[in-house]
Amino acid sequence: MKEKVLKLLKKHKDEFVSGQEISEQLEVSRTAIWKYINALKEEGYEIKSVSRKGYMLISTPDILNYEEVSEYLYTHYIGKEIFYFDSIDSTNVKAKELAINDGTDGVVVIAEEQTKGRGRLGRSWVSPNKKGIWMSIILKPQIDPQDAVKITQVTAAAIWKAMKQIGVSPQIKWPNDIVINGKKVCGILTEMSGELNRLNHLVVGIGINANTNIGEFPEEIRDKATSLKVEVGQDVDRKKLVGLILNNFEDLYNKLVEDRSIEEAIRICKENSAILGKDVRIIIKGEEKEAKAIDINAEGELIVQDKSGSISKIISGEVSVRGLYGYI
Ligand code: BTN
Repeated sequence: MKEKVLKLLKKHKDEFVSGQEISEQLEVSRTAIWKYINALKEEGYEIKSVSRKGYMLISTPDILNYEEVSEYLYTHYIGKEIFYFDSIDSTNVKAKELAINDGTDGVVVIAEEQTKGRGRLGRSWVSPNKKGIWMSIILKPQIDPQDAVKITQVTAAAIWKAMKQIGVSPQIKWPNDIVINGKKVCGILTEMSGELNRLNHLVVGIGINANTNIGEFPEEIRDKATSLKVEVGQDVDRKKLVGLILNNFEDLYNKLVEDRSIEEAIRICKENSAILGKDVRIIIKGEEKEAKAIDINAEGELIVQDKSGSISKIISGEVSVRGLYGYI
């Protein structure tokens, strides 16, 4: 009911809605409405109340629950259900739990803070309260397990498009990082549950340093991490960015599952690659080799050429790609 009161106030933005009108429309007592209004105020909604005029919504808090994010959502199923947490160990862990217990395709888990955020290759992911976007999408596509890696490219492309839509021009560092000015602003952690020839579910975890200040990053990653705020010089609208990412994601993901096509996603990843044409170090299970990154093929695999001229395919997974002299 509290959500319905909020919806009504949002519908009448910048004008008063009388207690009488709310009570008639929602069929609840005026005392109950007063309680819901107070609960909303406690969540950070600024609501003006004037006797005989009613209530007016002045501002909404910077939170990523369904009520706030849905204003920007145009999807049919991605993010139509959002599990929202103030604080959680890891949204990927929660999403995997939900996926096993019937969480359907497109369910999203978002937290304001993660206490045990997980990165790739067993690393941790710093996720301070309300500074970033920490979210995971549950997917149950009818695709072969070996095609699951394509989802990371689809996700990277969706995030790239969303950042462009808010006026930022990032690059994509295959397979799963988004970078600005050579520093990482976002990481993607795709986790799969399945057997050799059957995929049960996928969880795509997205971590974006949105409004983090440089001093809030641990010292050891300050030279390779950045945030959107650091790069654009002002806070970014986290709700809008979540909405844009999910809208773009549904569009590109549908193309993969319905048409078996990731053409657009690959084109975006290639045109905006941070590594194509560069010499890189490929690290697979502790073993390093140097090569030039020359292409990303239609399957989303990285094509590299070593010094002897021989060409090979790198499949994302246990691989880490670094520049010869630093992160890129
Ligand atoms: C990486 O670059 O190493 C991947 C980082 C992925 C971080 C996100 S934050 C939301 C989701 N939950 C997690 O625990 N990790 C992912």
